[in-house]
Formats: sequence, C-alpha cells, structure tokens
Amino acid sequence: MSTAEDLFKKVTAHAKEYGFVFQSSEIYDGLGAVYDYGQNGVELKNNLKEYWWKSMVQIHENIVGIDAAIFMHPKVWKASGHVDGFSDPMIDNKDSKKRYRADQLLEEQIEKYQRKGKSDKAEQLQNELNKALNDNNLDALRDLIVGHEIACPLSGTRNWTEVRQFNLMFNTRMGSVADESDVVYLRPETAQGIFVNFLNVQKTGRMKIPFGIAQIGKAFRNEIIARQFIMRMREFEQMEMQFFVKPGTELDWFEEWKKTRLQWHLALGTPQEKYRYHAHEKLAHYANAAVDIEYEFPFGFREVEGIHSRTDFDLKQHQEFSGKKLQYFDPETNSSYIPYVIETSIGLDRLFLLTLCQSYREEIVGDGDQKDSRVVLSIPPALAPVKAAIFPLTKKDGLPEKAREIMDQLKRSFRCQYEEKDTIGKRYRRHDAIGTPFCITVDHETLAENSVTVRYRDSMEQQRVPVEQLSALIDSKVSLRNLLM
Ligand code: GAP
Repeated sequence: MSTAEDLFKKVTAHAKEYGFVFQSSEIYDGLGAVYDYGQNGVELKNNLKEYWWKSMVQIHENIVGIDAAIFMHPKVWKASGHVDGFSDPMIDNKDSKKRYRADQLLEEQIEKYQRKGKSDKAEQLQNELNKALNDNNLDALRDLIVGHEIACPLSGTRNWTEVRQFNLMFNTRMGSVADESDVVYLRPETAQGIFVNFLNVQKTGRMKIPFGIAQIGKAFRNEIIARQFIMRMREFEQMEMQFFVKPGTELDWFEEWKKTRLQWHLALGTPQEKYRYHAHEKLAHYANAAVDIEYEFPFGFREVEGIHSRTDFDLKQHQEFSGKKLQYFDPETNSSYIPYVIETSIGLDRLFLLTLCQSYREEIVGDGDQKDSRVVLSIPPALAPVKAAIFPLTKKDGLPEKAREIMDQLKRSFRCQYEEKDTIGKRYRRHDAIGTPFCITVDHETLAENSVTVRYRDSMEQQRVPVEQLSALIDSKVSLRNLLM
C-alpha cells in the first residue's frame, strides 16, 4: 500500500473513531455512498458553513442568502436541462456485472500512464477522451476502453457492454395518487432554487446588478460509482452563489471570482501548492467558461469547487418554460435584460474531507523516557469542533468545582468540553485527536491565584494565564474574523 493510500485509510478510520463521520445505517451494513456526521463532524461542518456564509453573504453588501426547498416544480428540471442531459456515460462489465463510469475508467488509465512515465500516451488519451466527451460520442468512449485494454478491476476481464447514458436524478412521487405527472425530483444542485427566486429576491431586496444570491443546502445524485469516502456521495451538501451581472461583463467577473475563491481557501492556511486551477475542456451546456479549484488529496488532485460562467442560460430557460418574464430593469440605461450569471459552487463534504486530510498528523513527541506518539488534527482553530477543553488536575480539593465554574463562563461563547477522567496526558491526546486548540488545566494554584495552565495543541507549549484573560485569549485565536478577507 502506498503511503498516500495508507494516509487516506488512516484519515477515514480516524473520522469514524473520533465521531466525525459514520456510515449511514451502519447497523444494517450501511447504505452505499450515504454518510452521517457525528458529534464532532457536525461541529466542524457547521463551522465550515459559517465561514463560507460570513465570507460570501455577511461581508458583501450586494450578496444575500436564501433557503429554497429541496422539491421543486418538475418543469424546473426540464428547463434546466437536467431531465434530458444530466447523465454520466456508463459501461457494465458482463462478467462481474459491475457498472463503471466510462470517462472515469479512462481517466484512471491516464493516471496509470502518467505514473509509469508514459506522458505522451497519457496526453494522447486525454485528448481523445476530451473529444469523445465533447462530441458526446459513446461509441468512441467504448473504443478507447477496448483499445487501451482496460480490464474490470473486479473480474479482470475486458468483456464490456455498450456505453449508455445514465440519468443521475433521484425521483419520487408527490401526493397520494401514483401517476407519472406526480413525479418530483430531489434537486441535484441547489442553484436552480436561486434562479427561480431571482426576481423575488431582486424586487423585495431592491437589489442592483451586480448582485449575488447564496444558498447552502442538500443535493442528491444517484452516482454510479461512489467511492473515496465522502468525496462522491449520493446525498451531499453544496454551498453555491449565483452572481448576476450585466451581459458582456461576465468574463471579468469570472476572473474576479476565480481569484476570490482561491484566496478564501488559502486563508485557511493551506499551502498554495496543495491547490491548482483546472480549466474545463468540455464546457457544460450552460457555460461559456468554467474552472475547478482542485486540492491535492492523498489520492491525487480532485475538484473541490467549481466556478462557472453560466451565461443567461438558466434564466432564459425558466423564462421560456414558465412563461414569466425574468428580466432586470436597469435604471441607469432605462432598459431591461436577462442578466448573465457567474456561479461559485463548493461541495461542503469535500471541503470537510479536505480539512481532515490537510490537518491529520502523526508525530513523535518528547524524548528519552518521555517519548510518545500522538495523532493531532491541526484544524484551523476557527473551525475546530471544540475550542477549549477544561480539566481539573484531580477529582478532589474543589478543583472540579472551580473547573466547572470556568467552563460555565466560557461555554456561552465557545464550544467547550469538561473532562476529569484519566491522566492529563491522556486527556491531551484525546483532544489533540479531535483538534481542540486549547486545553485548560485547573490545579491548586488556580484556587490560590485564579490562574490556569493553557496548553496549545500544535506547539504543545504551556502557559500560565489569569482566568479573567481566558476568554479574550481564546477569542483572539478562534474567531472567524481572523479569516475573513
Ligand atoms: N451548480 C453547479 C454544480 O452543481 P458541480 O460541479 O456538479 O456543479 C459542484 O458540483 C460541487 O459540488 C463540486 O465541486 C463538488 O465539490 C460537489 N459535488 C458534486 N457532486 C458531488 C457528490 N456526488 N458528492 C459530494 N460532493 C459533490
């Protein structure tokens, strides 16, 4: 097993062991590509959402948020192109009966060539794959799979079916009568809830172009191949913002948002070289420019966020399908037009996984008799699930009462945990493992001098701090204000 694979295995095991992520319905052997967030996971996820919301909505006077329903009128998905076009090319192996995404099999083959130093072959296959995808040529995809002698990882055979398109939307029925006309979809992206509310928000908020509408919410896709833990899920969460601009200015705004969004990632302290832009070769039917922000996961660079110049496609389609005008009246030019849209779309679960991968560290600490190992999650303090842990040194002499008193003072401002079981060393390790930036020990000196020992997660340094300064000290390090640009 490579070190990178090994690291990823460790991260996923750690996520379960420390209450970040559990398999959905685990006692029934799980449900494919569906996950639950545990007691620490939900805190980290909420902090990520808050960081995004504050950066995208709160500090921008011209961006507002909404929370649209998951179910939408079925015509929305006809208009958006999802009913007819939201599909992946899939191929089945006749022996293993396993289904694969044809383009992913080819991408893996490209990576294989690259690993073996066959860069010419990799480049040629990449070009052929791009062409086949651009032309929507399913036969060409199959020919490439056969031509490059790609075998099913399970059966090892090359006994492939034709390549077919597979729609990714989940559907269900609304109301009590089962009838085709009652079919509703679970939204595959949150964006459409923003488009159909464009005029509602613009009018009631008296918004002037350029302006944005942001939303955080669940999306659902019946992914054929679900893998790499929470990287590709069937139920996941998106944080999307649609920025409405004057036609003709969209590519300037595209560049602007491309920069702003990468800065947002870098503000978390992740080194620049862990990120890269990946411009789309094959543009979606609605886009005139698109780029992904990719992060280097242990299994390679993968998309975390997409920035798309969606033209006026969506609003125009909804105008046509609904028969309602979706135009903006520009008071400066005294004319009406359908705005163009720049979208920023980030997967919350992928961002969560990125945060775990980026912060997981194994370390040897101390020396001689004191030598020990620890696993620490160096999560940016503003995102840490627990900000401070409060430990009485012993369970007697009034120390628990004093520790509780300090806990009561801090817990209204920060997520804190009180722990009195085990040695202080073991308590430190438990909190290193979930990324708690501050451990506060209450000892006999605390009773005499009203000061505590603060131990810092990353440096493991300890400092004596007066109790009345604790709140300001923690706040100075964990506040999201530190990250906002
Ligand atoms: N509204 C545009 C849109 O949905 P997308 O590239 O399909 O674009 C945006 O998705 C982001 O959503 C991706 O960059 C990714 O982070 C996340 N995402 C997409 N499919 C996902 C899945 N099956 N599981 C987890 N996250 C996913």
